[in-house]
Parts: sequence; C-alpha cells; structure tokens
Amino acid sequence: MATLGIRGTFFDFVDDPWKHPGRERDAARFHADGLMVIEDGRIADFGAFDEVSRRHRALELTHLEDRLILPGFIDGHVHFPQARVVGAFGEQLLSWLQVWVFPEELKYKDRAYASEAAMRFFDNLLAGGTTTCQAFTSSSPVSAEALFDEARRRNMRLISGLTGVDRHAPADYANTPEEFYRESKRLIGRYHKQGRGLYAITPRYALGSSPELMQACRRLKQEHPDCWVNTHISETRDEVSAVRKENPDCADYLAVYEKYGLVGPRFSGGHGIWLSDDEFARFASRGAAVVFCPCSNLFLGSGLFRIGRATDPRQRVRLAWGSDIGAGNRFSMLGALDEGYKIGMLNNASLADAAEAERNKISPYRGFWSITLGGAEALYIDDLVGNFQAGKEADFVALDWKAGQKSLAWRQSLVTAGRPQTMEQAADLLFGVMMVGDDRAVAETWVMGQRLYRKTE
Ligand code: GUN
Ligand code: ZN
Repeated sequence: MATLGIRGTFFDFVDDPWKHPGRERDAARFHADGLMVIEDGRIADFGAFDEVSRRHRALELTHLEDRLILPGFIDGHVHFPQARVVGAFGEQLLSWLQVWVFPEELKYKDRAYASEAAMRFFDNLLAGGTTTCQAFTSSSPVSAEALFDEARRRNMRLISGLTGVDRHAPADYANTPEEFYRESKRLIGRYHKQGRGLYAITPRYALGSSPELMQACRRLKQEHPDCWVNTHISETRDEVSAVRKENPDCADYLAVYEKYGLVGPRFSGGHGIWLSDDEFARFASRGAAVVFCPCSNLFLGSGLFRIGRATDPRQRVRLAWGSDIGAGNRFSMLGALDEGYKIGMLNNASLADAAEAERNKISPYRGFWSITLGGAEALYIDDLVGNFQAGKEADFVALDWKAGQKSLAWRQSLVTAGRPQTMEQAADLLFGVMMVGDDRAVAETWVMGQRLYRKTE
C-alpha cells in the first residue's frame, strides 16, 4: 500500500458557516502544524502533527511550508466546450448563445478538437485549484467521451453527461430526443461510476427542450435513478418569460423540471437568479441544488443572485458555486468568490431585511466552505470529497497566500509576519486571497494524493 504524509497548515470545514452566525469558526477546522496521512489516494488519518505523527512511524513526509492547505475546490457548473470562447464580447445570454456558443460547440463533433480542449480544460481547472467539476458537454457524444476519458487519465472526479438541446438552436447543432436518449444510455453504461466518473442527465435548459426531449430525460432518470441531473434555471428575465410562454401549463420555471420528475436529490440548476420565494422553498424541500455562478452573472449582465434569501434557515437551499466558463470569465473559483462577495454587497445596497442582508455577506468561512464541503453537499458527493475527513479522497490545494499582485503580499503581511497561528489569522489571509488575490495564489494542486499541478513562476 502506498502511504505518504503531508505536513503543513490545514484549513477545512465540518459544517455550514451560515448555520453559525457570529460563530462561524465553529464550522471550520484549523491546524497550524497538521498532518494528513494518505493511503492509496484516500485520507487515512488527519489532525495535529504531534498527535497524528505518533500513530504513524516511518512515514514518507512531504512538508508544504508557507502554504494554506485546503480541500480541492469544486466547480459545480462549467461548460467544457466553451473553453475557447471565454471573454466573448458584447452579448447577453440568448444572443450570446447564438452568436458565440453554438457555432463553437458545433466543432466538438471533431475528436481531435475535443480531446485537445479536454486537456486544456483540466489544465486550467487544476491551475485554479479545482479538483472536481460538474461539467456540460456539447450535443455531440464525442465531446462527452473526450471529457470523461481525460478525467479518467488524470483520475479526477467528474460529473458530466451529454447535453440535450432540440429547440432554439441551429439544426446542425440540435440532437433529436431519440438520439439523445440512445446516446445518453450508452454513455451511462460506459462512464457512470467508472473510476471517479459520475453521469448527469443533462437537458441544457427548459427553453432548449421540447416535451419529447424532457420525456427522454424523465425516462433516463426513471431507468437510472442514481444518475445526476444537471441543467440551467431562471438565468435571465427574457429566458424566464420565454419558458413561461412555451410551457403555459407550468406555473413557473421549476415546474417544468418538476413535471418530468427531475427535481430531487442530485438535481442542480445553474443560476436561479430570478427564482421566486416559492421556487426556493421547493428547491429546499426537495433537496435539489442551485449553482451560483457569480462571474457569469456579472459578465452576461444576467442579474444578482439572492444569496441571503437562498440561505434563509427556514428554507435553506443547497448551493454549489460554479465558474460557468465561458459565460464566466475566470476558471478559478477564487474569482467566483471575489465576484460573489460583490454580488452580496450589491444586494445589500437596496435591502431592508437586516437578517437577509447579514446572510448576503460572504465571509471567508462562507466562501471557502461553499467551494469545498458546501459544494460537495449540494451535489451529494460529500461522502467522497469536500473536507479532510478520514476515508475521503485526498484532493487538496496548497495556497501561497502572498502570491499575486504586489498589494496582496503587503496586505497579508499586516495580518501575520509568518505562518498563521490562529484560525482567525488564517481566515483573514483567505479573505485576502479571495478579494485581492487570484489564481497566482494556487501553488500546488493534488488529486488522490498525487501532485498534478505546481505553479512555475
Ligand atoms: N443556458 C443555456 N445554455 C447556457 C450556457 O451555455 N451558458 C449559460 N450561462 N446559460 C445557458
Ligand atoms: Zn451554464
């Protein structure tokens, strides 16, 4: 059995910080000098160095000095075939899809084009500290195969599936419901629960789906209830009104997915900016998740997600966070935290409810929980990843809290001259990383106990 030890300063979570207002540190764990023991890619032991090292003699040790070690980040919503159209100028959602996205995703019928993008896609995720993602593909099965195969090569955890769309898309891009059903079924057999792959039945969004395509999704979910369902919901006002118009028998956007039996655990809808209170309540009661994509929401000008409302303890919605590349303009989940914080503050510019305003504030505890354990819980993979509990997969990121623009090192030196000694110091450094830093802070990214990325200056 391959056993190794990682020594360093660790920060992870055991609970949701929103449940501990004023005492968020109770949701976190901090070891100024800690030790993680890894056996065959899984965490075998974890805790304070003095204590854990006593239990493990003759351990091969890697000491990650001057780093903050966190669980690998989870990107709950990202589009693999949009990696080449990040930063596309000038459109909002519905025209952006037509002008930039469909012509690009059409190219993913070509295996060489898709395979090269899959390599770059994971290179970029790892450089941002992301070790797990839930990703969209294109309408071509070639894209799903390229993505799952590359994830398998790197032993990375991936939730993905063939993307179904048969309306409001060019004819040569759309798939037929029959083809979508048949190919999804084949891909489930080939990739679901193979290695670290998990399959998501993926209707792109309600506006892109005919009743027949939605029926194909229902059938797939009935036949494979342990699969995930990944889609979009209520991203822009134009989209919501078009969905309402095309589905007059559904009271709101979520009702379209409910009608086809898709909403429950392991269902997630990206964005949810324009969800009503009632839809939030149904998300909460069904155990379904919304994926908040701050960079994308600002880049496309889609609106401000109501974080404080979604985290209301009376109807707490499971939330993952996503980059939503290429509508999002940053691969790094640190970028998502930066923009997410600002969305919370913009919400508070016109909010009378003080309790909701408090919940809109993305502290470092709330932020880093959201892109680690919180994302894992929202996606129902917290038995596998999300924190350093023994038995979980050893995916982690080592942050250099001083690396980035010049002003970051200066800011951080005001918090501590050396290694952080207290959880509060570490949390303050992490806030510096999320608000003043960027992916230059990601020094190393490890997957299943193997270093897959190391920053070169
Ligand atoms: N809605 C349907 N497709 C997409 C997409 O590719 N990106 C985003 N942001 N929203 C969508
Ligand atoms: Zn998206």
